[in-house]
Amino acid sequence: MKALVLAGGTGSRLRPITHTAAKQLVPVANKPVLFYGIESIVAAGITEIGVVVGETAAEIRTTLGDGSRFGAQITYLPQERPLGLAHAVLIARDWLGEDDFVMYLGDNFIVGGITSLVEEFRAERPDARIVLTRVKEPSLFGVAELGPDGQVVTLEEKPRHPRSDLALVGIYLFSPAIHDAVAALEPSPRGEWEITDALQKLIDSGRTVRSTLITGYWKDTGDVPDMLEVNRSVLEGIESSVEGSVDEASELVGRVRIAPGARIERSRIVGPAVIGADCLIRDSYIGPSTSVADRCLISGSAVEFSVVLQDSRIEDAGRIEGSLIGRSVQVVGSERRAHAHRLVLGDHSEVLINT
Ligand code: TTP
Repeated sequence: MKALVLAGGTGSRLRPITHTAAKQLVPVANKPVLFYGIESIVAAGITEIGVVVGETAAEIRTTLGDGSRFGAQITYLPQERPLGLAHAVLIARDWLGEDDFVMYLGDNFIVGGITSLVEEFRAERPDARIVLTRVKEPSLFGVAELGPDGQVVTLEEKPRHPRSDLALVGIYLFSPAIHDAVAALEPSPRGEWEITDALQKLIDSGRTVRSTLITGYWKDTGDVPDMLEVNRSVLEGIESSVEGSVDEASELVGRVRIAPGARIERSRIVGPAVIGADCLIRDSYIGPSTSVADRCLISGSAVEFSVVLQDSRIEDAGRIEGSLIGRSVQVVGSERRAHAHRLVLGDHSEVLINT
């Protein structure tokens, strides 16, 4: 069995972060979200991995390399434009050959891994197996309708009038039967080759499409609230470790991970929280559910329930909460009580100002 990991796409919901970086590489507890997916694939015994890449191909390649750090062999499959999940299967056709495969959306996060799903598929070997979860707003997702025997009857992408609250999770298991269905597709009204349409074609041609309902935790990290929530949930499971230095005037409360070279001075850190390598945290408070990536400076500020990417500087900034701060960002308070904010923000930035 092979794995097809989708790491292309536009990432419009995570702008401006995705103007300059791949959304699959945004860190969760200081590790790129994509690493969790690849590790769960390898843990399920699959080591031949095809990674579909788009505009951010160079960054993904540099970060994942040949896959040996995961114990896998990675082949990169360039997708000219993000034309849909089924389009990714189409361009991977030759590489996939006649193998069964698991398709994994690179920005998705599944707690508990995928091993049992892969085992279930291998044991029963239907033509496809999809994974479903109950959601509050099904019209934002691909939605499945199940028959009385649990067989998948219909699938619709972001339906206006959903027939159930069962949404497709970003992991699919396919036999090579999917290729004929994909080859017969036309682009949908939104111009994408939809995987839901390909699955519907399988069903209509009498093939078996089964589903697994997961009640555990799954998240698409496609937007900022989800990203912060995944980070929070992963931090819940960390162990304390202090490899950097913490001075006597500082206090660590709960589970806190401090990477080598990081310095904590006159500060209070309440876990779960992770501080990356070579950070300096000075005269500050870092609150629960916060990840600070490598080489950040946080001084005279309070940061809670937030993700800060590498090389950023937060100084005399007051209290920051529920925020995703990109790489090499500067958030600096001003001494002068000028009645104006001074901002240099990239396209699609969002700033909530307390007035
Ligand atoms: P989505 O989150 O559905 O799409 P997107 O990346 O374009 O994001 P947005 O809606 O914010 O603009 O994609 C799910 C995953 O699949 C994600 O990791 C990107 C990847 N992908 C591809 O590799 N190729 C594609 O053609 C598409 C649509 C997505």
